[in-house]
Amino acid sequence: MRLLKPNDISPSEITPPEIYRERRRFMQGSIALLGGAALAAAGEPQAATRIAGVRASAYKLDEDKTPYKDVTTYNNFYEFGTGKDDPAANAHTLRTRPWTVRVEGEVKKARTWDIDALMKLAPLEERVYRMRCVEGWSMVIPWVGFPLAELIRRAEPTGNAKYVEFVTLNDPKQMPGVRSRVLDWPYIEGLRMDEAMHPLTLMAVGLYGEVLPKQNGAPIRLVVPWKYGFKSAKSIVKIRFVERQPHTTWMAAAPSEYGFYSNVNPQVDHPRWSQARERRIGEFLKRDTLMFNGYGAQVASLYRGMDLQKYF
Ligand code: MTE
Repeated sequence: MRLLKPNDISPSEITPPEIYRERRRFMQGSIALLGGAALAAAGEPQAATRIAGVRASAYKLDEDKTPYKDVTTYNNFYEFGTGKDDPAANAHTLRTRPWTVRVEGEVKKARTWDIDALMKLAPLEERVYRMRCVEGWSMVIPWVGFPLAELIRRAEPTGNAKYVEFVTLNDPKQMPGVRSRVLDWPYIEGLRMDEAMHPLTLMAVGLYGEVLPKQNGAPIRLVVPWKYGFKSAKSIVKIRFVERQPHTTWMAAAPSEYGFYSNVNPQVDHPRWSQARERRIGEFLKRDTLMFNGYGAQVASLYRGMDLQKYF
């Protein structure tokens, strides 16, 4: 699978902030005039989708957040098409209720969680994370979620659980993209147990204080901010604890291009492009990509002694 390409956004695709603000003001005016319908059409959050009781957290960044509009209209979600605007256009057919997540494998307490129970499993927090796509663009997103570690503790993994595999929904009736064979479905991702238990690893159920939009992986997705974005599997239906390293979708598609670890690393280039720099969506000039996407102080110890050129 060679679809993930470096992403050189032409300057004309980036809306200068003053025009963006102007457009927003205009939109807000029309929203006032037309009410909810215009609001929905604009892709802006609606009051009804706000998540109650979200706590602030210590995970903040001194960087501008990527506007809601960009976070929800510039996406990768191949189950809804391979274009950046396909998920926002097509994901309305995804049904997020009822929804269950099966937790199974090498655990003492296998269980099928209803999504609404899962959302109450632990206090929901807002965490602002840097996200870096393997294609070379990045965003800063205020997620709402809970640490995956909270779910893992309740499952009581056995000593054989060395990895966690994430399986996402594969339903051609709801997801037009899975009728095409661009990838092997379902989309599968995986983490080593210590990565999955790491306090930064989040199960996200929302962003910008709102219920997660369908194009961003509703109703629940993984967020691993020190790894390339494709590790952050969307619309998860199964979490399996396993002894062997999962065979992930992107490894199956192009093993020489997408490794299991996929840690953000400006010193390890993709075979077809450099990973040294990135374009923050909404910014004009490229910026340097940071080792582990800037989370090295928290996660570098997980990889001590490993050859990161080999285990890319
Ligand atoms: N999850 C599923 N199920 N299907 C996908 O195609 N794309 C991945 C990841 N999770 C993908 C997925 C990629 S390549 C990226 S960069 C991120 O989702 C994008 O997340 P975002 O659209 O919320 O920014």
